[in-house]
Amino acid sequence: SFLDVPKEPCRVLVTGAAGQIGYAIVPMIARGVMLGPHQPVILHMLDIEPAAEALNGVRMELIDAAFPLLKGVVATTDVEEACKDVNIAVMVGGFPRKEGMERKDVMSKNVSIYKAQASALEKHAAPNCKVLVVANPANTNALILKEFSPSIPEKNITCLTRLDHNRALGQISGRLNVHVSDVKNVIIWGNHSSTQYPDVNHATVTTSSGEKPVREVVADDQWLNSEFITTVQQRGAAIIKARKLSSALSAASAACDHIRDWVLGTPKGSWVSMGVYSDGSYGIPEGLIYSFPVTCEKGEWSIVKGLKIDEFSRAKMDATAKELIEEKSLAKSCLN
Ligand code: NAD
Ligand code: LMR
Repeated sequence: SFLDVPKEPCRVLVTGAAGQIGYAIVPMIARGVMLGPHQPVILHMLDIEPAAEALNGVRMELIDAAFPLLKGVVATTDVEEACKDVNIAVMVGGFPRKEGMERKDVMSKNVSIYKAQASALEKHAAPNCKVLVVANPANTNALILKEFSPSIPEKNITCLTRLDHNRALGQISGRLNVHVSDVKNVIIWGNHSSTQYPDVNHATVTTSSGEKPVREVVADDQWLNSEFITTVQQRGAAIIKARKLSSALSAASAACDHIRDWVLGTPKGSWVSMGVYSDGSYGIPEGLIYSFPVTCEKGEWSIVKGLKIDEFSRAKMDATAKELIEEKSLAKSCLN
């Protein structure tokens, strides 16, 4: 079968690989969680000089884990070497927020990293490299990366809102006491921040009598329009409060989900949320990386078109777009 044909290894870059998300995601990638159980991988891990020794420790553990799919490890503090010929780039490197901070408070440290790394990716990555930005402020870092790597196609630069999407699925399934895989087609609109809009108006749940709208089955608009939304918006802060560290295993898992669905396709009849460069769909200004519902096929995402947007949603979608416009100008002022 085609499974017997040896596949070329895929080179996957993880920046910030000595950090918490890095430590959670590299074994997932090496086990085939990101690219499937038949795709060999070569891991490229980048971190900065102060973390070089810890990074080498991660490299040693990857060797010790004897992963059948892992065909090589590059562990380096040299960004050019790290980016060489990579097919997938998962950009986690940066500084996480601490309790009491908003994600944009880490702006000035992180956007300058994304400007510098844009050039290295542009020069050294494989053609058609797919980029996922995880580090906060994720949408704006992705936008800066896009602006400073003009030769990378804009459709190849995305940011992570799948964690928020999965959080929304988790809240609905908990409320209904059904398994999370029975809920689908929630949407995260906008920024990976507390202004994001988790939208259930098109979401469905599989019940014993077939697929039903989430609104109908939950039958509590008051909860859906208030507490549900704020719980998802504030979940990152709740994790920081509980762990004294930001989310890592769920972020790593969501990053694998994001890349897997982008590369291998979304299941028929369902969509996921991805932060992508706006083409003006749903009246969202071009020039922003904004989270939309997307389907993926043959390695390409497309925004789900034609969904009906009511007034409540419209206001929330515009509010998060407005925050992204402000972040964009703040980022530009940080870079000047
Ligand atoms: P962490 O501090 O544990 O790890 C970050 C790593 O990045 C560190 O090892 C650090 O040395 C490294 N680093 C710093 N500057 C770098 C550079 N210029 N190049 C390469 N590496 C560099 O943090 P973490 O918990 O792993 O979180 C990483 C980022 O992901 C943070 O910005 C966090 O806020 C963000 N995050 C995003 C989401 C999301 O859903 N989008 C979810 C969770 C966390
Ligand atoms: C999250 O959503 O968990 C991350 O973005 C970390 C944070 O700062 O909230």
